[in-house]
Amino acid sequence: MQQGQAAILETERLRLVDFTAAHLGDFAAMNADPDVMAFFPARLSREKSAVMLHRLIAHREQHGFSLFALHLKSDHRFVGFTGLLRVDFEAHFTPAVEIGWRLPKFAWGQGLGPEAARACLAHGFGKIGLTDIVSFTAAINQRSIRVMEKIGMQHDTADDFDHPNLAADDPLCHHVLYRLRSVE
Ligand SMILES: CC(C)(COP(=O)(O)OP(=O)(O)OC[C@H]1O[C@@H](n2cnc3c(N)ncnc32)[C@H](O)[C@@H]1OP(=O)(O)O)[C@@H](O)C(=O)NCCC(=O)NCCS
Repeated sequence: MQQGQAAILETERLRLVDFTAAHLGDFAAMNADPDVMAFFPARLSREKSAVMLHRLIAHREQHGFSLFALHLKSDHRFVGFTGLLRVDFEAHFTPAVEIGWRLPKFAWGQGLGPEAARACLAHGFGKIGLTDIVSFTAAINQRSIRVMEKIGMQHDTADDFDHPNLAADDPLCHHVLYRLRSVE
């Protein structure tokens, strides 16, 4: 985290800040870990992480929201991302805004993902003014599905889908879709 960078959101244990170029080292290290990336088609090289970071910043400038970098309040350590993005492929539920998360392995299992996600949902339904937020993952990614359940998202198996960017015989192809609607 850059010195003095303001938190956009705060939770009990976390500061959620805008991504900047200064995050590249920590971001790339997380995206290069095979365990973290087990349910994605590939790990990311430092160059691909730099491209993704650039896109996240551009998304924020264009749409007013994006993924947030997570930092522990206790020691400022980078512990991944959670946030909102427009879904960048076509499917039966698009156009839509998704909530997503990725933490480095040392930070798993402490409830930090759901803690950050709850703050992002409140931000999305509040300041951003969204009425619906979705989340999806490979049907075999039980840890991520658990986060969706813990933050109160709803699942209808009729919504599940095959990811259009993956081959039909890829074990990651079949995806679950969870939804949450704002309480009007
Ligand atoms: C998915 C992810 C964000 C969960 O974040 P988290 O802060 O660890 O979430 P939680 O601590 O609430 O743990 C979620 C569930 O995973 C389980 N879990 C956590 N760490 C685990 C580990 N190392 N091994 C096995 N299970 C684990 C927990 O037991 C928990 O289930 P429970 O609430 O029934 O006990 C994190 O595992 C991650 O970054 N995974 C890799 C990236 C990824 O797959 N992102 C989602 C893509 S759509």
